[in-house]
Amino acid sequence: MNHKSKRVLAIETSCDETAAAIIEAVYPEQSRENTIQIKPLSSVVYSQIDLHKKFGGVYPELASREHIKKIRPIVEQAIAETQNPHLSLNDIDAIAVTTGPGLAGSLIVGVEFARGLAASFNLPVIPVNHLEGHIYANFADDDNRPQFPLVALIVSGGHTQLVLMRDHLDYKIIGTTVDDAAGECFDKIARMLGLPYPGGPALSKLAGNGDTKAFDFPRSMLQSGDYNFSFSGLKTSVFYKLRGLGLVDNNAEPILDSKIMNLESIKRDLAASAQAAIVDVLVTKTLRAARDYKIQSIIVGGGVAANQELRQRIIHESKILNLKSYLSPLELTGDNALSIAITAAYHLKNGDVVPWHDLDTNASLRLQ
Ligand code: KG4
Ligand code: ZN
Repeated sequence: MNHKSKRVLAIETSCDETAAAIIEAVYPEQSRENTIQIKPLSSVVYSQIDLHKKFGGVYPELASREHIKKIRPIVEQAIAETQNPHLSLNDIDAIAVTTGPGLAGSLIVGVEFARGLAASFNLPVIPVNHLEGHIYANFADDDNRPQFPLVALIVSGGHTQLVLMRDHLDYKIIGTTVDDAAGECFDKIARMLGLPYPGGPALSKLAGNGDTKAFDFPRSMLQSGDYNFSFSGLKTSVFYKLRGLGLVDNNAEPILDSKIMNLESIKRDLAASAQAAIVDVLVTKTLRAARDYKIQSIIVGGGVAANQELRQRIIHESKILNLKSYLSPLELTGDNALSIAITAAYHLKNGDVVPWHDLDTNASLRLQ
């Protein structure tokens, strides 16, 4: 094998997905050059959604127990699926693992497994921030890479951030949510509408051809002059509307046997109007940051990046400003280990590795 190539095995267990992936990163001869070629060899994601559905959200204790059961088979599957019958852990050059942010009990399973592998095979470990993974999902395609400086919109169940990047691994958070994350807002509104967890995909499906203007929901902080977000006002506004219609009780629990007329079309319009309010704020603030910082590209990552309304609006409005936009490939919007491996490839070039005994988790790890 070319001495400039490194095989990285990545592990991700920060929330309710147990994931492992293997890549081969090919480094340029000139070390100043930053174009790393990424060859994905395998990527396995086991989602625990079915386990948590009945609780209407992720049940942390169950999540970590399930990670413990699944981590070894998932890593074995990632090795088997490289379709190279000779590939074994002996051919891996480094182990990457998500160390935070996330659920403490979930993170520790991936980190301890990575620690064990690194100690046994005498390998360096690359600690990766989960949010970097959501950003680097946009660097999976060697032929279509974002250019710096760029603005990254990270929209997931736990985070909503605008990040300015002047170069690889150089993060400056310029905006963040002051209360709920965008995905959390999707999930909470979906729950009030009686939709299953996770609410984002269910809500956007229901919104389908609903009327986005049927309900006038607030676009909080649109005129705040900064790049921060707030979604709790929207959630409250939807709650009052639903309670007024007799669709939720005082605890925001859905009243499923409501007899109001046109129930399905009202729900559709509510979902469409709420989704439009979330997307409007996300797109407006992202584009404003892009203009103010005179950036080259906009990138979008995280679970909510799967939202078709958001994708279309970002593409459309970036074109108007003559900016290039990059949306995470759909299979990399949610939590996965391939994105962690890609991030790790850039860290490895910088020498950002730790010995197995120095590895640690941090449930509230930040990007900078
Ligand atoms: O990145 P992710 O898989 O996990 C976290 O790091 O939090 O994001 C999960 C979030 C959930 O809130 C889910 O409802 C939301 O992403 N989501 C969506 C869509 N698909 C997933 N939200 C809106 N539209 C979607 N299509
Ligand atoms: Zn995530």
